[in-house]
Amino acid sequence: MTTNKRTTTKYDIELIPGDGIGPEVVDAALPLIRTVADNHGFHFEATHRDWGTENYLDHGEMMPEDGLERLADADAVFLGAVGHPEVPDHVTLHGLLLPIRKGFDQYICKRPNVLFEGIESPLRGYESGDIDFVVYRENTEGEYANVGGREHRGLDHETAVQSALFTRRGTERIVRAAFEAATEREGSLTSITKSNAQAHSMVFWDDVVEDISDEFPDVTVERLLVDAASMDLVRRPHEFDVIVASNLFGDILTDIGAQITGSMGLAPSGNVHPGEEYPSMFEPVHGSAPDIVGEGVANPLATVLSWSMLFADLGETAAANALWDVVTDQLADDSAPRTPDLGGDAGTEAVVNDLRSRL
Ligand code: NAD
Ligand code: IPM
Ligand code: MN
Repeated sequence: MTTNKRTTTKYDIELIPGDGIGPEVVDAALPLIRTVADNHGFHFEATHRDWGTENYLDHGEMMPEDGLERLADADAVFLGAVGHPEVPDHVTLHGLLLPIRKGFDQYICKRPNVLFEGIESPLRGYESGDIDFVVYRENTEGEYANVGGREHRGLDHETAVQSALFTRRGTERIVRAAFEAATEREGSLTSITKSNAQAHSMVFWDDVVEDISDEFPDVTVERLLVDAASMDLVRRPHEFDVIVASNLFGDILTDIGAQITGSMGLAPSGNVHPGEEYPSMFEPVHGSAPDIVGEGVANPLATVLSWSMLFADLGETAAANALWDVVTDQLADDSAPRTPDLGGDAGTEAVVNDLRSRL
């Protein structure tokens, strides 16, 4: 077990492959990830957790009651996907994925959207490099707060209340993180809200952006309403650099981001707790994809890129770059195997094997 994620060269990684295609992509990618770690002079212990919906169907819980305690000392967590057609999603997601994001205070959900060379965007005229933005999604509160309830079930006046929660601390820290990212990138930040309709929470968000912008005079700030932003991600995605948005809006916008850059199967993400107190968790943006599960055709590249983000977070920059670069090389090579979501007919294993041969 490591004590400090910055000074060791042996890491403890918790692996939660989860449901559906989660185990397919996580297991297929692991040997490649190990090779890259070895090549860069560090090792990691991967503790597999067979948590997920099978566990729920067998034992009535998605993860053990002390699941978070078991993960807490890890240097990072890697998760595949959660969600199963036989169990309602709110049960599975509130039993596994969401408690980790919240319990470990992983308040930055960082989601890069890059149009790689060799990938055809569904948007006409876009070429590699034309789309390159990152979404900073608030990941612990907002519309995902578990505040509310259902009353008078089954009666005519049945009522459901779901309150969104926007705290000053929670909003300031995600907005500040996004400004910092903009400083390191092109210097442009787009804050996406719905403050025309949601006059409390979203106007508050706008005020926080205004306050924090004083700390970053060199960053250009644009404010968009989420409906117009959805349109603009299709109409002018090349103009975005860093996007900051609430939990729900960030979720929705990153599916658009994934699709305009080629596929859900290419989109990586990190749920980042920037301090030392808790581990961060990395995962592909996609879900358990029940429509293709068991076919061996799930695209493993979102998983590989998420590992790249994990290594970068650990400070293993060279290994992170090696993973990102090998994916970039493969995509740029039109004779390389591709999974069906990218227009090819190769399987998950073939894509990973090809990556290994390119290292
Ligand atoms: P999804 O991301 O699982 O699938 C959407 C579409 O993208 C499907 O057509 C699927 O085949 C395709 N796709 C996704 N990943 C792919 C990959 N790696 N390679 C090739 N094609 C891929 O979203 P959904 O269908 O809305 O949700 C399915 C289940 O997953 C639900 O239970 C949902 O709640 C859950 N979900 C979980 C996560 C997560 O664990 N982080 C994220 C999204 C959805
Ligand atoms: C994602 C997913 C999750 C989210 C779901 C499965 C709860 O869609 O990671 O994008 O909304 O955060
Ligand atoms: Mn989503």
